[in-house]
Formats: sequence, C-alpha cells, structure tokens
Amino acid sequence: MQQSYLIKRIQELKVKRNAVILSHYYSRPEVQDVADFVGDSLALSQEAVRQDADVIVFCGVHFMGESAAILSPKKTVLLPEIDATCPMADMVDVEGLKRLKEKHPDAPVVSYVNSSAAIKAESYICCTSANAVEVVNSLDADEVIFVPDKNLAAYVASRTDKKIIPWEGHCPTHHQILRDDVLKMKEKHPLAKFIAHPECRPDVLELADCVASTRGMIMYAKNSPVREFIIGTECGLIHGLHKAAPEKTYYCISEFACCPSMKMVNLEKLLDSLEKMQHVVTVPEDVRVRAKEALDRMLAVKV
Ligand code: 13P
Ligand code: SF4
Repeated sequence: MQQSYLIKRIQELKVKRNAVILSHYYSRPEVQDVADFVGDSLALSQEAVRQDADVIVFCGVHFMGESAAILSPKKTVLLPEIDATCPMADMVDVEGLKRLKEKHPDAPVVSYVNSSAAIKAESYICCTSANAVEVVNSLDADEVIFVPDKNLAAYVASRTDKKIIPWEGHCPTHHQILRDDVLKMKEKHPLAKFIAHPECRPDVLELADCVASTRGMIMYAKNSPVREFIIGTECGLIHGLHKAAPEKTYYCISEFACCPSMKMVNLEKLLDSLEKMQHVVTVPEDVRVRAKEALDRMLAVKV
C-alpha cells in the first residue's frame, strides 16, 4: 500500500475513533511523523494522562503502552504490535525482586519504567531516564533497590549519596556500545560533542559531554552552540534531532545501535491497529492500582 494512502486512512480513523497517536523517539521516522505526540518515556507518561481522547495508540514497546493503561484506565490503549517487548524489562522477575526486598527490608524499590506492571506494583516508586536521580534523591532512605538497569543504577549512584542496590539487567542496544566505538568516532569527528543515554556502560558515559534522556539529548543538541554531535543511543533519535535542529550534523555511534523491538511498528500495523482496535493493553486491576501508586509518586517528583 502506498504511504500517502496509509497516512490518509490513519488520519481518517483517528478522527472516527477519537484516538491519539503517541510515539517514542526510537520509532520508525514515518511513524513519528504521523504521531500526534513524540517524546521520551517521561513525557509520554505525562501525555497519556493529559490527553482526553477515548483511544491511545502507543507506537512503542509493551511497557510504554502498559504505563498508559495503568495511568489512564478509562481510555482504550492499543499497541499496534503486541510482540514489541523490551528485553531489559523482561530481565527482572517478581519472585527475584521479592527475595531482594526481603534481604533489604529498609530499602525502597525504585523501578525504571522499562519494567512490567507486576514489577511496578512491587515498587515504591518508578523513574525514567529523565528523572532517575531526582526520584532517588527524593526518598527518605539511605539505601535504595534499583531495577532492572544496572547501567542506569550506576549512573544514579555516581550522582547521589545514597547506596544503590542494583539489579543485573541491561539494555542490549545500549550495552553493546563500547568505549572503543566512542574513541574511534571522537577521533574521526574531533569537533563533535558526544551525547549519551544513561543506559550506556559507565566507561562509555565517562566520555560523554552530556548524559540525558532521549528528550534531554535533543534539548542539549538544539541549545548548544556546537554544530556536530556523536549520538550515543538508539539510531531512531537522529530523526527527532534533525527535526529539532536541522542545521546541525549527527553521527550515530554505531550501525548496531538499533532496538529491533522499537522498529516493529510500521504504518501498516498502525492502520491495522486503528481498523481492528487491536491490540488492547490490559492490566489486572489489583496490579494496576499498585503500579499506579508507584507511577503517581514518580509524576509528583519535580525535575
Ligand atoms: P527515554 O527515557 O529516554 O525515553 O528512554 C527509554 C528507553 O527505552 C531507552 O532505551
Ligand atoms: Fe528496551 Fe533498550 Fe529497546 Fe529501550 S532501547 S526499548 S531499553 S531494549
């Protein structure tokens, strides 16, 4: 089917369903372009609450749609691709987390939003990459359990006096970016600033001029007087960077910096989703209520 036809049908059905399309920056460029709102995980959670549409179509991975369903139970949340899951979110399990909680009964659990609803329900508070440090510092506790990303945990540990008890999860896309990749790119582009996502390894972040969430990286590049940037995150961000500051040049850190799950949604699947009202994200009510408490606590933290 032709792209122009797909876009026209998506727009028509969006009106018919009173739907809004939310997309993460890692989605395919054509999906970002048809979305009503593109953002990082924090902004997308805030937007899911703010929107008064009947239907939210979430172009992203499962945990993102789940967060929207947890926060906005009266709306129908659709995921165009039900198999788009985040491998890092799948690295932490409820039983293992319960055991860790028993070992550290005084440590509140901070769960990165890249986790299942069941993990959020076992947590005191959630965080995203945009507010992780502020969330941890907001807690009245000397030690904190942080799941599932060990790299984000290490980044937070470097910026707080609290003891961080990490889980051994990681994002495969960010974890395979190596210090050597950065050094080679810096040699090739000596005038470029290196901006990185905190899911990267600590020895990679040491080389960064700026560490921020995807939205934070866009704001940094846009507001910086510098004209060239090496991008230490998933390659999809380059589309958002070009839109925000088209006059600048961006170098993707590596051809492998791609999240296969985030690329699963395309325009055909988005149209299918609106046509068939699929795949509806559901969360058992008892889990949803507890997970919402953790997300609400996060949304109350000022960044
Ligand atoms: P953001 O918090 O920047 O949206 O990142 C989410 C994510 O999945 C990074 O891999
Ligand atoms: Fe998960 Fe990493 Fe993909 Fe983000 S980039 S959705 S953390 S696998």
